[in-house]
Amino acid sequence: MKYVIANWKMNLSLSTSQELLSGILDFLKNQDHKIQLAQHCMIAPSYPFLSPLKDLIEKKGHFLSLVAQDISASEKGAFTGDISASQLQEIGVYATLLGHSERRNYHHETEELLSQKIQRALAANLKPIICIGESLETRENHKAIPFILEQLKTLCFAVQSYSAPSALSSPPFLIAYEPLWAIGTGITPTSSEIEEIHLALHHTLDSLFPRYHIPVIYGGSVTPYNIHEILSLPSVNGVLVGGASLSLSSFIDILTEALSQKH
Ligand code: PGA
Repeated sequence: MKYVIANWKMNLSLSTSQELLSGILDFLKNQDHKIQLAQHCMIAPSYPFLSPLKDLIEKKGHFLSLVAQDISASEKGAFTGDISASQLQEIGVYATLLGHSERRNYHHETEELLSQKIQRALAANLKPIICIGESLETRENHKAIPFILEQLKTLCFAVQSYSAPSALSSPPFLIAYEPLWAIGTGITPTSSEIEEIHLALHHTLDSLFPRYHIPVIYGGSVTPYNIHEILSLPSVNGVLVGGASLSLSSFIDILTEALSQKH
């Protein structure tokens, strides 16, 4: 199956999060390939709900994994309001989004800070889901590919200094290509634009990390209406879904398509 990662952002209450997760788990319980499910289906709720949602997963079946929306760049100490990678790992979080455009934009996160966060995540055994993407201006100036590859290479330095155990059962990190102009706008790139960027990313990742197949997922206005077209692209290994992951029926439509697709 292909990856489906839900980014709930700062939405939902505890009870609506539990209700939505419950519905998703009930749906996944009736699917085949249960072993693959927890590595491919993930949700990123708000921090305070991670533990109660973990309890729900333990109760109903481990058919999906939890993702943090961000982590601190520091290991521990006097960083009021921050949450460390190891604290999240301790409560059963599997992965973390890093470099989402809302963090870069509203919290001025730089590539340098992100590199530190990537290393923190890897050291704490939390899988980084590294978000990259170009602005509309960059795309209109026909500079999307060089821009994206530059972002990728800078962030990959952080990963390269980490030596993963040789027998990993899943890739050490994921790349999420999210064009900034497609996030929350209802506008998506054409299939050939997505394919062009994903192929360039795979090409670079294969040369930087020949031991692994690093998944490249697409994010930005994914809905039940465009999921088939997006996931049918061979270079797209999955999707990162914001708005459409907040409704059970939309999200189930997206999961259904991902379950029917090969890697
Ligand atoms: P969207 O958000 O699906 O609402 O466009 C995607 C994201 O921000 O990851």
